[in-house]
Amino acid sequence: MRLSMSYKVAVVGATGNVGREMLNVLDQRAFPAREVVALASTRSTGTEVSYGDATLKIKALDYYDFKGTDIVLMSAGGAVAKQWAPKIAAQGAIVIDNSSAFRMDRDVPLVVPEVNAHALDGIKKGIIANPNCSTAQLVVALKPLHDEAQIKRVVVSTYQSVSGAGKEAMDELFRQTRAVFVTDPVVQEVFTKQIAFNVIPHIDDFLDSGVTKEEWKMMVETQKILDPDIQVTATCVRVPVFVGHSESVNVEFERAITAERARQILRSAPGVLVVDKREDGAYVTPIECAGEDATFVSRIRKDPTVEHGLAMWIVADNLRKGAALNAVQIAECLINRKILKAA
Ligand SMILES: NC(=O)c1ccc[n+]([C@@H]2O[C@H](COP(=O)([O-])OP(=O)(O)OC[C@H]3O[C@@H](n4cnc5c(N)ncnc54)[C@H](OP(=O)(O)O)[C@@H]3O)[C@@H](O)[C@H]2O)c1
Repeated sequence: MRLSMSYKVAVVGATGNVGREMLNVLDQRAFPAREVVALASTRSTGTEVSYGDATLKIKALDYYDFKGTDIVLMSAGGAVAKQWAPKIAAQGAIVIDNSSAFRMDRDVPLVVPEVNAHALDGIKKGIIANPNCSTAQLVVALKPLHDEAQIKRVVVSTYQSVSGAGKEAMDELFRQTRAVFVTDPVVQEVFTKQIAFNVIPHIDDFLDSGVTKEEWKMMVETQKILDPDIQVTATCVRVPVFVGHSESVNVEFERAITAERARQILRSAPGVLVVDKREDGAYVTPIECAGEDATFVSRIRKDPTVEHGLAMWIVADNLRKGAALNAVQIAECLINRKILKAA
């Protein structure tokens, strides 16, 4: 079946958390690929990754020729993206990059297909940016509410899983948890404080204003994707969860909107699943969203401290909607909107 299909796809960072999930998502969604190539650093050359029932041997990005490649899904960090994405685009492929390197570039669309697929009509550099994982799930849930009652301000606190910081971060949570149980010394290498049995109110670098870069990304990316007039203030926190980011969100609207109306709107919104029964256990936690495609919204309720306010709980699999799934959905949009033509 795949042999007759038309697109040659390369996954850069294929040994990483996001790259492996990209291969899963391409297979699960039967992406029309005639060939999928898995690339990583020279350290991984010859190692194997799974793509459906197939096993792909990793090739080195440094020595790969992208001529004839249609789509490159990139998740190898900002430095690799800055060095390689323009070169790859110059060879004719469209690059969908997961790092923050190009997200705020005016000539690079920053896309969440449920929210702003139209931005794909202006690809100037051959590069499309995938948003930060916490932003992606936030805007999927906010977009239909913004259309209804116009959002003025968002206050968000995140509870972000360690997989958002890469595979080494997951290993650190595992090793520290084990060390606590067997009373070994707890070694900190990836995170600045112990992550096992703890929470850390610090993700990415500190800016002069005291805001962290992760918090800044949530503000500016939400404005670029959804609406530049929305004010966003974020506190980003790392929690000892392996997969799944959660967000406590307070939204202030221009116009009146009840919790019941919001629930109704979100029930029919693309990419959203409402689980909100106001009883024990009738809400979603990160463990339940791992491996799922939807952005789950629970605990929708009135925020009585502002004139038109709602509070809610938003959870999604950061490796899927926050990264790999969103990137593959962008590639699907390129095909559906006939921006990418079959070879
Ligand atoms: N995790 C998330 O939830 C999430 C969400 C949105 C965006 N992102 C972004 O996605 C990117 C990857 O994240 P991740 O969580 O998958 O990280 P990861 O698990 O640490 O994987 C990093 C990947 O990049 C590859 N790589 C590193 N240096 C390279 C080089 N010089 N040349 C080629 N490949 C290189 C690694 O290959 P080797 O194995 O050979 O070193 C590995 O495949 C980051 O930019 C991150 O910010 C992540």
